[in-house]
Amino acid sequence: MSKDRLIIFDTTMRDGEQSPGASMTRDEKIRIARALERLNVDVIEAGFAIASPGDFEAVKAVAETVRNCSVASLARAAARDIEEAAAALKNAVRPRIHTFIATSPIHMQYKLQMTPAQVLDQAVRSVRQARNHTDDVEFSCEDASRSEFDFLCRIIEAVIAAGATTINLPDTVGYGEPGQYGEFVGRLIRAIPNAGKAVFSVHCHNDLGLAVANSLSAVMHGARQVECTINGLGERAGNASLEEIVMAVRTRADVFPVETRIVTEEIVPASRLVSSITGFPVQPNKAIVGANAFAHEAGIHQDGVLKHRETYEIMRAQDVGWSTNRLVLGKHSGRAAVRARFEELGITFETREELESAFRRFKELADKKHEIFDEDLQAIASNVSVGDAAERYQLVALEAVSHTGEKPRAQVTLTIDGVERRSAAEGDGPVDAVFRAIENEVHSGTTLQLFSINAITTGTDSQAEVMVRLERDSRIVNGAGADTDIIVASAKAYLHALNVMAGAVRAHPQISGI
Ligand code: KIV
Ligand code: ZN
Repeated sequence: MSKDRLIIFDTTMRDGEQSPGASMTRDEKIRIARALERLNVDVIEAGFAIASPGDFEAVKAVAETVRNCSVASLARAAARDIEEAAAALKNAVRPRIHTFIATSPIHMQYKLQMTPAQVLDQAVRSVRQARNHTDDVEFSCEDASRSEFDFLCRIIEAVIAAGATTINLPDTVGYGEPGQYGEFVGRLIRAIPNAGKAVFSVHCHNDLGLAVANSLSAVMHGARQVECTINGLGERAGNASLEEIVMAVRTRADVFPVETRIVTEEIVPASRLVSSITGFPVQPNKAIVGANAFAHEAGIHQDGVLKHRETYEIMRAQDVGWSTNRLVLGKHSGRAAVRARFEELGITFETREELESAFRRFKELADKKHEIFDEDLQAIASNVSVGDAAERYQLVALEAVSHTGEKPRAQVTLTIDGVERRSAAEGDGPVDAVFRAIENEVHSGTTLQLFSINAITTGTDSQAEVMVRLERDSRIVNGAGADTDIIVASAKAYLHALNVMAGAVRAHPQISGI
């Protein structure tokens, strides 16, 4: 029996970026876009073009890079938003403008302060305006799951008549319950006279841990696009996780009447890339992409799997890309080999200097540890391409001393806007001493919200990947740093976070009104 295609709309770089601290530079977005293209997602939502000049540039760069997927920009249902989105997408092979307005009574009354008639009118005008730029226009009824059924029917019928080709029904606040939400989507599709002219889409948040269940229930009731993110990244508790949706549909092909065109072997590499760029670690027991997802601890399970894999495994680890922990290069590898491996991983450097810098870091690392894995190269690339945000503060050198029974001390040399500064401090531990020494010069006024260390590969010579989260005036930023020396990795992560903090502030699509 032939199956319908389930369109996979990835919003890691838009809704995912709305996670506090998960903002991405233009270069990082290009790297994620390449990974999504290798995954073969259907639509990449690259950002919210009007949010800031940086966001505009990032959407534009992704639109110019990606050739095999549609590229979307979010736009509120407002004239200027739509023009910005269209301009950023100008060079995309398949541009999609994704415009939205809230349709629930609570959002219309308190947030928008608009009547339902005004909202309907604004929605129709925006869709028409977007259609002047592209044939591929998506309209989202923000907070659809708490909207009135009759009003949804009216507004959706009107926007389809105005040219919307995809209708998205977000469960914006993660309130949906699978049975009810799926039923609601199906009822809408049946009630709207021109529903056949559009693809119905769902976009579920995970506040009750039900985002994937709600999305899949909607698929059973006729939704043919799911909006999701790598690792379930997204606003608050996140969005439906792409890997779980895709693998559920594939593994339970006996139940779901749809199929995707995702290259599942690219799932784990994409997950790692997103985690290393955003600094959001993947919990070990996360389905599909967690380190323990295919690890069997109990002896009875191990015995079963060795005798017959299917006794305890419903998917094959290699089918989702769990075999990439390969030894690739060593200290004698030349420039061409290193560059080729970077390219195989989808990492390209825009300038000769960036490539040289990456190669220099590779050699330094290869001197310290003999085996260089793909994960090491990813970490090198993350450090090379932290982009414009990286310029302000840079680490030149550091020395940290800790003796049993004495207070640890650190001396740090850094440049601030190119000027060299040196500072020393004591701390509760060597990392604390380093952070205090940096702060003696920077005076950032930030508070440290999170500090985490992760070994990138196995072995005591592994690089440590440190993540630091800083907060100032309700703004949260993350910084990541990698090195075989944990203290150096910590200093790099701290300075990276300070550099991001020094960068531009972006508008939030769902906070600012029309
Ligand atoms: O959660 C939501 O409603 C959204 C829309 C803007 C699609 O992210
Ligand atoms: Zn959302």
